[in-house]
Amino acid sequence: MCGIIGYTGSEDVREVLLDALELLEYRGYDSAGIAVRDKESGNTQVFKCAGRVSDLRAICATERVLCGCGIGHTRWATHGGVNDSNAHPHQVGKVTLVHNGIIENYRELITDYDLAGDLKSETDSEVVAALLNRFYEGDPAEAIKKTVAKLKGTFALVVLFADQGDTIFSTRNVSPIVATSCKEGAMLASDLTALCRFTNRYFVVPEYHILTLTADKLTLTDFDGHEVEPEYLTADWELNSAGKGGYPFYMEKEIMEQPEAIENTIANRVKSGMPDFSLDGVPDSLFTDCERISIIACGTAMHAGLVAQALVKSILHMHIEVEMASEFMYSDPVIDEKTLVIAVSQSGETIDTLEAVKYAKRRGAKCLSVINVKGSSIARESDYVLYTNAGPEIAVASTKAYTTQLAVFYLIVARMAHSRGVFTTEETQSFIRELQRTPEVMKKVLERRRDIHVVAKKVLAAKDLFMIGRGLDYSILLEGSLKLKEVSYIHSEAYASGELKHGPIALITQDTPVVAAVTQEKLMSKELSNIKEVKSRGADVVIFMKESIAESIEGEYEVFKLPDMQDEFMVMPASVALQLLAYYVSSDKGYDVDKPRNLAKVVTVE
Ligand code: AGP
Repeated sequence: MCGIIGYTGSEDVREVLLDALELLEYRGYDSAGIAVRDKESGNTQVFKCAGRVSDLRAICATERVLCGCGIGHTRWATHGGVNDSNAHPHQVGKVTLVHNGIIENYRELITDYDLAGDLKSETDSEVVAALLNRFYEGDPAEAIKKTVAKLKGTFALVVLFADQGDTIFSTRNVSPIVATSCKEGAMLASDLTALCRFTNRYFVVPEYHILTLTADKLTLTDFDGHEVEPEYLTADWELNSAGKGGYPFYMEKEIMEQPEAIENTIANRVKSGMPDFSLDGVPDSLFTDCERISIIACGTAMHAGLVAQALVKSILHMHIEVEMASEFMYSDPVIDEKTLVIAVSQSGETIDTLEAVKYAKRRGAKCLSVINVKGSSIARESDYVLYTNAGPEIAVASTKAYTTQLAVFYLIVARMAHSRGVFTTEETQSFIRELQRTPEVMKKVLERRRDIHVVAKKVLAAKDLFMIGRGLDYSILLEGSLKLKEVSYIHSEAYASGELKHGPIALITQDTPVVAAVTQEKLMSKELSNIKEVKSRGADVVIFMKESIAESIEGEYEVFKLPDMQDEFMVMPASVALQLLAYYVSSDKGYDVDKPRNLAKVVTVE
């Protein structure tokens, strides 16, 4: 969702801001804007519009002045429609501001402080600018503190005051801000991607602090005015690994990167053939002292949790629930000090997951998170973190984050099974050996991606589509179906194939293609019966099937053979195949695969 950049320094400010906004495009947005301070006149000029950063670039090209600092924003509309005046930055009196988050009490603030006359947009953000301007009497920190004291909700605020030279001010609650200083100046952003061009050293601005940036100095103070030393982190992402690397879309690049991403995720976590979390500082007591597991996540990350649930049930025979983070707090969950909560998130910023983690911790649970972005809010809120090491994931549709989350879950299940005495050492090592085969097996699917492109052409014209399977196959298809609908806009539903007869089979006709997964040997005959049922009602069927069992139906159906792994691991090759299916449908339809309509990569509003 919304992206923020702020920069003061020696480089061409406009270019730095516009380039950074392009890097933030992946978060999802519908409008963009920048404000720059003219060095000669001291005026702050605002350029903003609904549309793409490229549209903003065109507007900015009309007038060029020498600037010392500036702030920028990509907006994903929440309060007020998509139009130029609702785009950020907002300027009221001496204040120019960009905001991420939601101000819940903005209506009360308008009434209480009689701000209506100051407002030109329908946004909650402009109300903050108006309030700041109302409180500003020459002392930025005082005005910020007074304003923040009145706000209810989440916010990352970045502000220029007309009479404060080339200085940028920022504060936040929940919504993240990262910052850094380097030889080119000082900068802040909503996430690290925007800073990567300059440095991989950064810190997360703590909540309710004030960050002050000038070209040669960065100061962090708490609300009592005490200076605080920033806690710098180093991102281990290659600075240029966020590029497309010759692929037309990030999604394809990220699908292709999966074998390496899996290797990076498991490499330092296997010692003498055994799963080992000593470098992550995760103790075995976390796995032995719990009585139940609760996995909290959204979207694709939640689907990774569903695979983990199947493994935990069949291998550990433990009580486990997978909760949609957005429903979690309102469902009176059974959570106590005997519950191990595992939060899963690529970004580490999904607000529903973050709030659910806070809630679970208040109830006494220990929280382990599986996260891709280092130092993100959920990682900081958790007791323990296992990073997925997938590298930057830019495409809105999550691919390598999902399979690396699965890899972490296989490690967790193996470690847990061994520490709880369910697996012997030999059984654990054999399980891990199979996990280590994953990159090679995935490569085999990727090498045959042209065949999946051919399969994709068969569903291109579909308006509605079903994906069917049982057990682990059903879990895989929930993710495959989400992938297809988000990038291709085909209405796709994943169904447990045994459930079809209880209703949805009424929708099967010759116009509803069916994609089936058959990777679990013990379920094969039942799955094939369900496939026959839809075929005999006219549906075109494509089956993704484990190679060694596919012979039995040779010639009868359109089959893509998935290279063999043990059944518990077939999720890996099957997921890659389904990701490619979604990718080819979307690109063949000519869609912007990386930026599907209405979607945001980082979902920071509830
Ligand atoms: C995946 O393709 C999605 N776009 C989405 O479901 C995503 O997985 C979800 O929003 C959770 O994000 P997170 O992993 O960053 O928490």
